[in-house]
Amino acid sequence: MDVWRTSTWKPLRQSLWTENHSQARILRMDIDGRVSRRYEVYDEDARLWESAVGELVRLRTWDIFGRYLPPEGRVLDVGGGPGTHAAHLAGLGYEVVLLDPVERHVEAARSRAEVEGGLTFGARVGEARDLAEPDESFDAVLLLGPLYHLVEPGDRRRALSEARRVLRPGGVLLAEVITRYSWVMDATLKGILDRTGIWDDFSRNIESGLSQNPDSLSEGGFWAYFHGPQELRDELSESGFADCRLVAVEGFAWLLGDLAQRLADPELLLDAIRITEMEGSMLGCAAHVMGIATRN
Ligand SMILES: C[S@@+](CC[C@H](N)C(=O)[O-])C[C@H]1O[C@@H](n2cnc3c(N)ncnc32)[C@H](O)[C@@H]1O
Repeated sequence: MDVWRTSTWKPLRQSLWTENHSQARILRMDIDGRVSRRYEVYDEDARLWESAVGELVRLRTWDIFGRYLPPEGRVLDVGGGPGTHAAHLAGLGYEVVLLDPVERHVEAARSRAEVEGGLTFGARVGEARDLAEPDESFDAVLLLGPLYHLVEPGDRRRALSEARRVLRPGGVLLAEVITRYSWVMDATLKGILDRTGIWDDFSRNIESGLSQNPDSLSEGGFWAYFHGPQELRDELSESGFADCRLVAVEGFAWLLGDLAQRLADPELLLDAIRITEMEGSMLGCAAHVMGIATRN
């Protein structure tokens, strides 16, 4: 599929969202201050558009959407951030509602959704563990963010249970995690293996899954939990999901030194990632893995 061209605007099958649909709801559960602080100081809106790796993640995510989402219907994008994916899916004709606990992200998403006469998708404040949406009201739920920002297993279970509740029977969940060894690979790519304390940091990170030492978190640092891929499978099945498949998002390709050049004409690279995306022995080479599962 010609994935990078699917972002161009297409006429919508759904009616446009009105202002009423976009009103913020009261946030019933606060998120961790370390997570909200991160998004005060970091421009999440730019991430999927600027770097070679950001572009790869965007193209691969849309490729996965194209093959694993139902062909049409209502999509709830929980932790949808500034709305890059929501806008893409709305452009394909899905009826999309984006929720995010960070107001700055919701505002950016709304601006992205705005067209004359309404919004192409709904965007409002919301939190994964406590969804305001009715039972069985969506054909697909995206959790691309909450599962790694919720570092406590009980909180992740709650988010998965809420996602399951709002999905119709047969509906599809796409839930993303960051892999356990991604910091070692990322630090290697960045050429900082000689940085003071980094090997102790790796040991702590690999053992606990926590992205940073909680006792010395850097200002605006990334606070998250890094999964082993099989752990995601267990969390999904323990939450009552069926047909769980694990798909590598970037696959091995984010490790390529000449990634930026290859993305100038990415089709063959995307083909190569596709044929390895479900290979269990390679999942942990990706920085992100998507769990795809069904509500029965
Ligand atoms: C790295 S961004 C990803 C944004 C978007 N889903 C994407 O894939 O590009 C992670 C997002 O998760 C959101 N988030 C963090 N904790 C959350 C929670 N408990 N419930 C819902 N969203 C959360 C953040 O505000 C942020 O927008």
